Amino acid sequence: MSFPIHRPRRLRLNRIIRNMVRETLITPNDFIYPLFVISGKGVRKKISSMPGCFQVSVDECVKEAQNAHKFGIPAIILFGIPERKDEKGTEAYNPKGIVQTAIRAIKDKVPDLVVITDVCMCEYMSHGHCGIVKKGKILNDPTLELLAKEALSHAKAGADMVAPSDMMDGRIMAIRNILDTNGFEDIPVMSYAAKYASAFYSPFREAAESTPSFGDRRSYQMDPANRRESLKEVALDIEEGADIVMVKPALSYMDIISDVKDTFDVPVAAYNVSGEYSMVKAAAKMGWIDEMKVVLEILTSMKRAGADMILTYHAVDAARELGK
Ligand code: PBG
Repeated sequence: MSFPIHRPRRLRLNRIIRNMVRETLITPNDFIYPLFVISGKGVRKKISSMPGCFQVSVDECVKEAQNAHKFGIPAIILFGIPERKDEKGTEAYNPKGIVQTAIRAIKDKVPDLVVITDVCMCEYMSHGHCGIVKKGKILNDPTLELLAKEALSHAKAGADMVAPSDMMDGRIMAIRNILDTNGFEDIPVMSYAAKYASAFYSPFREAAESTPSFGDRRSYQMDPANRRESLKEVALDIEEGADIVMVKPALSYMDIISDVKDTFDVPVAAYNVSGEYSMVKAAAKMGWIDEMKVVLEILTSMKRAGADMILTYHAVDAARELGK
């Protein structure tokens, strides 16, 4: 039996009723705000492909962190742009490196803000790949050592959580081991577990200065055509000790977010990546869409698909809007 008994429109009659039956709510507590840290003082360098985002020096990064905290955002994730790059990514695990310095400064001024660090070699390598390169190949096992050293140095500097994004096999175990043997057994690992070789990362690579100088990342990041493989990747990372698993990108990968949420019992993060952000910004600039409405719709749909938390460059704007 259907119409006229059933009239779904009854529950859309007015705003109050719609609010009562709303299934998905987003709040600033759902967001993680990414920040790009660079050396210097008073630096706020525009990222041309990501309007509204900046490469910031440590002092400015602290201000960004304070601002995010003020709007009720619980966490930030840090990306570093080092002064020097080499074949071993030395700056990634330098105790006085850019990210390590930023962590200390932020934890000093905003102790209640959760500081997550992106653990990867691409920003620190002269060739821009996420691992050690030999004869044009990206080596897996030797890279694990560097990633572990990098994660440990972040933990020593005071990071609350580490987030490996490199997609080398076995890195969660390598990082868990080194953290545990150094007294950091309480530091959670958020794994970029299902990370695809996506064209949506290109604005980020301008922001993080991490474009590979040859080839691409398809020998380590996942093929966008694969769905079942994401479950394998996530299962392996959980087995190795991942506390939170991430799907990245988000917008074109809602099926993956939903599958991961249905299959596993750990929190799921979704990364609303740079290209997704830039497309919204560009269309808004042209006057073709209502930026804030589109942003809130996108973030709501990511949560509806199953994300427990969302890494997004829109975090502060969205939190401000939600607080109105
Ligand atoms: C580092 C890393 C990337 C992103 C997050 N961590 C880039 C890449 O894999 O090339 C992308 C984030 C974004 O596009 O917003 N490996």
